[in-house]
Amino acid sequence: MSMLAIRDLHSGYGDVPILHGFDLDIEERMIGAVVGANGAGKTTTMRAVAGILPTWRGEISLAGERIDGLTPRQRVEAGVVLVPEGRKLFPSMTVRENLELGSLHPRAKAARAQTLEQVFDIFPRLLEREGQKAGTLSGGEQQMCAIGRGLMSLPRLLMLDEPSLGLAPIIVQTIFDIVRRIREEGVTVLMVEQNVRHALALSDRAWVLEQGRVEFEGAGQEMLNDDRVRKAYLGM
Ligand SMILES: Nc1ncnc2c1ncn2[C@@H]1O[C@H](COP(=O)(O)OP(=O)(O)OP(=O)(O)O)[C@@H](O)[C@H]1O
Ligand SMILES: [Mg+2]
Repeated sequence: MSMLAIRDLHSGYGDVPILHGFDLDIEERMIGAVVGANGAGKTTTMRAVAGILPTWRGEISLAGERIDGLTPRQRVEAGVVLVPEGRKLFPSMTVRENLELGSLHPRAKAARAQTLEQVFDIFPRLLEREGQKAGTLSGGEQQMCAIGRGLMSLPRLLMLDEPSLGLAPIIVQTIFDIVRRIREEGVTVLMVEQNVRHALALSDRAWVLEQGRVEFEGAGQEMLNDDRVRKAYLGM
């Protein structure tokens, strides 16, 4: 069964349609990547799955259960967690306080101490910096903190919007290693990445989004060798 199943998804902003109906299936414990040009609707897709934007038509299911009627908060409780583009941390709060903001719903709150330990195990750097204001962290550390906050919500599906944006190449590698590690912990990951080569190499399945539709999809490795992808996204 798919962890995430999107069917004929239509959504947009106000009355402006952006997503024009497409299907997307990601199996449990897989890494999926959505790629596409600026403005293709990648962020919009994640917002619709998270419930920040309404589903106008179509269906979204998590592990076989419809979630498109749920509020954003209910979706987080169900295990749908979005780490937004630009991290969106509270700069004047400490690393630990930012992490704890991820564990507000009852199930996450009950497991908070244990989850925090796991997060610090994945991100030893955050443990070193736990009392430091998030605004003073480097870009890579801020991304770690944002992902850590997402993990504090106990996701079944973790969506990462441009996790490597603006980071130095060596940190980008660290972030991708962390994505792999998170999958090993049993979490399904759906990521949007402008770093297409890296993202495809890492992912089990990938979708190319163009103007609010899936143009084509395939296994990540397969897509790396696809002429259309190589031309449009890998500059070859
Ligand atoms: N808050 C908003 N209100 C109205 N239109 C928006 C809003 N945010 C995005 N859009 C429009 O929706 C379309 C899709 O945007 P989206 O942010 O999903 O693209 P994207 O694929 O994530 O692009 P990028 O690579 O630039 O992040 C674009 O035409 C954009 O102008
Ligand atoms: Mg975007």
